[in-house]
Amino acid sequence: MFQPVIKWSGSKRSQANTILSYLPQEFNCYYEPFLGGGSMLYAINPSKAICGDVCESLIDLWNKIKAEPNELAQSYRTRWERLQEEGYLAYYSIRDDYNLSKKAEDLLFLSRTCVNGLIRFNADGEFNNSLHHTRSGIHPDKLEKIIKDWSTRIQNSTFISADYEYTTQTVKEGDLVYLDPPYFHTKGRYYGTIDYDRFLNYLDFLNKRGAKYILSFDGKRGDDDFTVAIPKDLYKRHEFIPSGKSSFKKVMDKEYLEVYESLYLNW
Ligand SMILES: C[S@@+](CC[C@H](N)C(=O)[O-])C[C@H]1O[C@@H](n2cnc3c(N)ncnc32)[C@H](O)[C@@H]1O
Repeated sequence: MFQPVIKWSGSKRSQANTILSYLPQEFNCYYEPFLGGGSMLYAINPSKAICGDVCESLIDLWNKIKAEPNELAQSYRTRWERLQEEGYLAYYSIRDDYNLSKKAEDLLFLSRTCVNGLIRFNADGEFNNSLHHTRSGIHPDKLEKIIKDWSTRIQNSTFISADYEYTTQTVKEGDLVYLDPPYFHTKGRYYGTIDYDRFLNYLDFLNKRGAKYILSFDGKRGDDDFTVAIPKDLYKRHEFIPSGKSSFKKVMDKEYLEVYESLYLNW
């Protein structure tokens, strides 16, 4: 499995190969309007892509990975060395810096040193996860290689800090859109939320444009079915795919539950 450059909540890295198997044979422009950590962008490796996210500092980071990989790698090295020397105070000082000025370099550092690499924001958009005390964060040499690898891979991609509707406004017949919005049942876990009715109208818009879409959405965990009743005229296929995070431990009986996510396709 490929290495992530930034760790992001809701990453599709472990499902990327399964989702790849649903891809159409051919498509023109690839759109990914809920980009996050960009797992599908990396896995698909399209010849032309337009990607977006509402998290502005995340999009700044993508633009830096693309245009200034060496400087970005160096900025991580500086912060990482400070962490090794000064300890946890360095982490919390960089976290304060991020919450004040939302610099992409700080976000990258936090994602690589916070507890379980879980990017987590409070209601005011402030990053609030703590330092992962027992780990020292990915070594700068290793991250530098990963940044350069991703940088090469995304040279034909454009990154826009915008709402999903804006990112895909130029979509046409023959294009492919991969949608990975915040889950309906886990509002608040991710950055941003989506209005469900607006999102359904948007699926209708994609259909009318003649673009293909693949949508990842709520699925099942054990006997609990979180599937959202998306109107049937908006898609052609609905599949459940193993989510990779399947070993959810029940506290009482230590049972492992299978977790599946929904995949909707409009062709
Ligand atoms: C589940 S995550 C995507 C994860 C991504 N597929 C990956 O592999 O890392 C959902 C993303 O949608 C973004 N988002 C939330 N509301 C949005 C909106 N209205 N328009 C565009 N992006 C939005 C969040 O910032 C978050 O990065």
